[in-house]
Amino acid sequence: MLNNQIINWYCENKRDLPWRNTKDPYLIWISEIMLQQTRVVTAIDYYYKFTKRFPTVTDLALADEQEVLNLWQGLGYYSRARNLHHAAKTIHTIYKGIFPNTYKEILALKGVGSYTAAAISSFAYNLPYAAIDGNVYRVLARLFGIETPIDSTEGKKVFQNLATETMGNARPEVYNQAIIEFGALQCTPKSPNCSTCPVHSNCFAYSSNMVDQLPVKSKQIKPKNRYFYYLFLSCSGRFAIEKREGKDIWQNMYQYPLIESNFELSTEQLLQSDQWNDIFDSSNLVIQSISDNIVHKLTHQNINTKFIHIDISAEEIKNFERFIFVNKKESEEYPFPKLINNHILNCDI
Ligand code: ADE
Repeated sequence: MLNNQIINWYCENKRDLPWRNTKDPYLIWISEIMLQQTRVVTAIDYYYKFTKRFPTVTDLALADEQEVLNLWQGLGYYSRARNLHHAAKTIHTIYKGIFPNTYKEILALKGVGSYTAAAISSFAYNLPYAAIDGNVYRVLARLFGIETPIDSTEGKKVFQNLATETMGNARPEVYNQAIIEFGALQCTPKSPNCSTCPVHSNCFAYSSNMVDQLPVKSKQIKPKNRYFYYLFLSCSGRFAIEKREGKDIWQNMYQYPLIESNFELSTEQLLQSDQWNDIFDSSNLVIQSISDNIVHKLTHQNINTKFIHIDISAEEIKNFERFIFVNKKESEEYPFPKLINNHILNCDI
């Protein structure tokens, strides 16, 4: 049986990962949310740090959002942290701090989709739900030669049925971990080592030379380009920051004052923009330097960034009251996107 072969492979090859040594649904939930867009090696340190500070769902529910975002700093996709915090408050108030134990209730938590609900239900409660992440789509598409696009409604149904069937009566907690790990280590996206694969004789893609073509995705969304001009306003060892408002990336995190555009601006266009005039009014300032373009790639957008360094004098600081001026040490209290945090770490003021 295929499920047994994959489970046997897992028993011999699995990594010892911290969230695999617990049945606590709260800890499993944290790990699964972290792992959604983050590599395992990166997630491990964050998992230890986060769960040390918030060992229970109540600790997380009672925390300040800023502290939660601070602990998430560098992981990216910060809505995951905001949703975790929101859901922790729901569990604290509605479920009296006890993590729900049905698939339906878990699925209803903010930020939890069908994959994560199945993962928590099976890992913590051994409930029979097949968890299908990118790894599992790839393994099943190759093994069974499924060409239905994995990002189509039809594909979701086809793979759901196939995953449930393949799980059969194996223990859901072990089977789900096993097929995820099999996809992550053996049936990798690029150049999988099929010659050492224990199920290659049953693999459609292997026998028909289609490993590189499966799985199929229908939409290749072209990323949108955005242009961020960050103003590094420094004054005697301090620099200006502000909270990022609005429903966009990096909501409620901190940043340098920002001029944003949907197209690239020359220095002249920048200096003549309404946003520039809004910030500097009639102040006559000297630009110290403009950095090279740094491209920060997100799933559906490229953030093209330049840092513009302007020194301001102690007298001029009163013209910038809407910003917070912090030194490097004080800035550690604030959550920043990685892009800005790297700049702070490298700037010499
Ligand atoms: N990716 C998603 N969930 C995972 C898990 N539990 N272990 C390893 N990789 C994963």
